[in-house]
Amino acid sequence: MSSQVSQQAALGVFDSGVGGLTVVRALRELMPNESIIYLGDTARVPYGSKSPDTIRRFSVEDTQFLVSHGVKAVIVACNTATAHALPLLQATFRVPIIGVLEAGVEATLADPQCERVGIIGTSGTIRSSAYQYALAMRKPSLQIHATATPLLVPFVEEGWTEHSALKLVLKEYLNPLLAKGMDTLVLGCTHYPLLMPILQKMLGKKVRLVDSASTCAAHTKRVLEDQNLLRTTRSKPTLDIFLTDLSEQAEAMAKRFLGTDFGKVKKATL
Ligand code: DGL
Repeated sequence: MSSQVSQQAALGVFDSGVGGLTVVRALRELMPNESIIYLGDTARVPYGSKSPDTIRRFSVEDTQFLVSHGVKAVIVACNTATAHALPLLQATFRVPIIGVLEAGVEATLADPQCERVGIIGTSGTIRSSAYQYALAMRKPSLQIHATATPLLVPFVEEGWTEHSALKLVLKEYLNPLLAKGMDTLVLGCTHYPLLMPILQKMLGKKVRLVDSASTCAAHTKRVLEDQNLLRTTRSKPTLDIFLTDLSEQAEAMAKRFLGTDFGKVKKATL
């Protein structure tokens, strides 16, 4: 493929479902000239409760689908898939593969004042210890407290992002982290950017929130710049959304996560 062709190709983005559209939203805000092909594996969501082997197998199939559509890079817009499958994907495919985790770790450590970090994510992400390991490797003095918060994805998917029941659940999850003096909270799941407003209200200015969507978009831009892969033509970029299971509920949710309307969602067969 000539570099001319690959610059104009779309970015591929996948997630276990529609949560990764928060990353698409951030990518479009930062790089409005890029075309994007999104794959949400709605037929097999959630990944967070699956075994590492299964998560890796699904992630390879998702990446294969995007690569077969000619994308110039793949963004793994799922913390669970990044935590378990990123090295395998990078070793298997020839296009750049960018995960959400590395960018989140960089953003966490960008503030030298950061001493006590809380991490929340799916059971799969927290069990993998990928965040804990990556943070501890770079800053051994860091105090790290990670908690699996499996109830949060269903709240976000239900649209209950301001609900009083969610506040109770968040208190239950976050109070132990606050008791440890947490100064930074890493939102280790691509569903969680939709919880930013409620988290900001609950935690105030004392705790810095690091969200994986915007940090991943900034990281992707740097990779594309470094590899001379930014799209150069000025024709209108495209956005194609594929889901492995189509339902009215998934389409409505997709619109909420993306924050805008989009064309018809297409069915993907992996
Ligand atoms: N979006 C996924 C993540 O970032 C969470 C949903 C799931 O469990 O599949 O980990």
